[in-house]
Amino acid sequence: MGRKKIALIGAGNIGGTLAHLALIRGLGDVVLFDVVEGLPQGKALDLMEGGPIEGFDASVVGSNDYKDIAGADVCIVTAGLARKPGMSRDDLLATNSKIMKSVAAGIKQYAPNSFVIVVANPLDAMVTLCKRETGLPKNRVVGMAGVLDSARYRAFLAAEAKVSVQSVQAVVFGGHGDDMVPVRSACSIGGAPVTDFISEARLAEIEARTRKAGGEIVALLKTGSAFYSPATASIQMAEAYLLDKKEILPCAAYLEGEYGYSGFYLGVPVQIGAGGVEKILELKLTADEKKALDVSAEHVKELVGAMDKVIAG
Ligand code: LAC
Repeated sequence: MGRKKIALIGAGNIGGTLAHLALIRGLGDVVLFDVVEGLPQGKALDLMEGGPIEGFDASVVGSNDYKDIAGADVCIVTAGLARKPGMSRDDLLATNSKIMKSVAAGIKQYAPNSFVIVVANPLDAMVTLCKRETGLPKNRVVGMAGVLDSARYRAFLAAEAKVSVQSVQAVVFGGHGDDMVPVRSACSIGGAPVTDFISEARLAEIEARTRKAGGEIVALLKTGSAFYSPATASIQMAEAYLLDKKEILPCAAYLEGEYGYSGFYLGVPVQIGAGGVEKILELKLTADEKKALDVSAEHVKELVGAMDKVIAG
């Protein structure tokens, strides 16, 4: 049995970090693809030369040719522009739609049996376009946002309550935008309701910070967006698939009636295993949470509509 093959489409900051994580976690051979000549080759060589120190034997190659992703088990798509200060994720729509179309054509031709994780922004529109253009079934095209947004929520809650991040359970639903929905009713610390640890007023502030956490980093970096945590979040999803973990993770999934929505992607808890997105879980939400999710879902639908116009345009 050979090693698994992981194709990383986009060799920017997230792509490079993904390659490093995939190699040190022993997930398989890595192909780093980018349209920029030299960039994926340079990063691949740099990573390969660290192999003897890290102790990995898997291969890592850089490429500007989609044929090198042939037979990939997992494709993680980060290709596209990242935000600059003052930009919303939605501002990336026109450029990143064009890029996603060519990425999807490459996947369709060379890796049609892969599990595809989309990270490019605006996430909810890009994952929709990826599914449409690859023609892959809904269980094999998923968007990475909820794992990251929930990790941010958990990190802030753990810091506030002064407990281990591992003692904090929390999920964020909805689109990957400023109206995402931190689900307070599903949030617990050591099995007890979060409100036993943190006041309602402080929780509201933490949730507001969570919704804008991506932008907080963009404002600090000035030249791009977060990459360590988006890469770790995507690797957790890839690992759940490759190891058939059946792990329940918040991800952008294609809905057909769940939560009362149909025909678009939205962040909800899903089970990821060898079958890809094997299940969508329907959590009980409070009336206020459902209302907030409706607002986020409406925004996602508008975004997909705007994308369709740009593409037709
Ligand atoms: C963020 C980008 C990756 O949330 O969307 O940081």
